[in-house]
Amino acid sequence: MTAKILILPGDGIGPEIVAEAAKVLECLRQDHGLDATLDYGLLGGGAVDALGEPYPEATRRQARAADAILLGAVGGPQWEALDRPLRPERGLLAIRADLELFANLRPAMLYPQLASASSLKPDLVAGLDLLIVRELNGDLYFGQPRGIRTLDNGEREGFNTMCYRESEIERIARVAFAAARQRARRVCSVDKANVLETSELWREVVTRVAGEYPDVALSHQYVDNAAMQLVRAPKQFDVIVTGNLFGDILSDCASMLTGSIGLLPSASLDARGKGLYEPIHGSAPDIAGQGVANPLATILSAAMLLRHTLDKPEQAERIERAVGQVLDQGLRTLDIMADGMTPVGTQAMGDAVVAAL
Ligand code: IPM
Ligand code: MG
Repeated sequence: MTAKILILPGDGIGPEIVAEAAKVLECLRQDHGLDATLDYGLLGGGAVDALGEPYPEATRRQARAADAILLGAVGGPQWEALDRPLRPERGLLAIRADLELFANLRPAMLYPQLASASSLKPDLVAGLDLLIVRELNGDLYFGQPRGIRTLDNGEREGFNTMCYRESEIERIARVAFAAARQRARRVCSVDKANVLETSELWREVVTRVAGEYPDVALSHQYVDNAAMQLVRAPKQFDVIVTGNLFGDILSDCASMLTGSIGLLPSASLDARGKGLYEPIHGSAPDIAGQGVANPLATILSAAMLLRHTLDKPEQAERIERAVGQVLDQGLRTLDIMADGMTPVGTQAMGDAVVAAL
């Protein structure tokens, strides 16, 4: 059956990096038997400009009809002054909620060719391969009530609600344990159970679910310690499972271990494996339009799309091998360049991956 892929380029460097990933998918379509159609839509600031909303009805219809979605990035300074519901980031949160994409997979693995690009000593990160499983539909991001209220004394107070239901914790824990079974069979659950009731319940439920996976070892860390461990001894981790906010923070931290946030793909999946795939970096407005952004995280996100939603592991590996080859050839964009190297641009990097395919 022909798979429907919806492409949402988004803002900033989004259109540039997505164009390279689309080239890669096109190449697989034409030369390697990938049976898929590529359709385009609007999300984020561009959608606000064109249609007045960051996640417009037209996009919602496209997104619901698609089998998988490939997203660039959203946001930029020109939309920061807008009312909160109109901000580009709201579009991203809205599509995650609308499609019930609760399981965010953020792998961080080090390409041996890039050990020197990490901010940590090479021996601390050599062979690094960890997976952050971040819950994406709950926590402070969506908890009610929320807002900014005025107190009796006239002072204003901002407030958000951290909450997790047992069923939400159970389903994300299962994703983490199942993922660990395909890997080194270790799960570290990250919470703040020494302070927060939400975390107390989180820990209890994750521990209970672990009983269904006796072949997977479960450990727990408080989030402050986990942040420290990630930069002290990151290779101790296999799968980290955590809530929405902690996962947001720890995944940026983990990305830097690999040398560049420009390399890390992600998948956001629903219960049936439909997914939205995006690089974990943002829209980088400071370098937008210059043709210097690294397209590899988006290209690798397309590989994850083929693996997780389209069930085409050979095609995914083909892309991942091609990325390894261009790194072997010494091609580097600005963000992963070592001293004395000449950087290649976004398009040249995409072309090199296509050539390697
Ligand atoms: C991410 C981003 C988003 C988040 C923002 C853009 C809303 O930081 O995907 O990690 O906080 O989830
Ligand atoms: Mg983030």
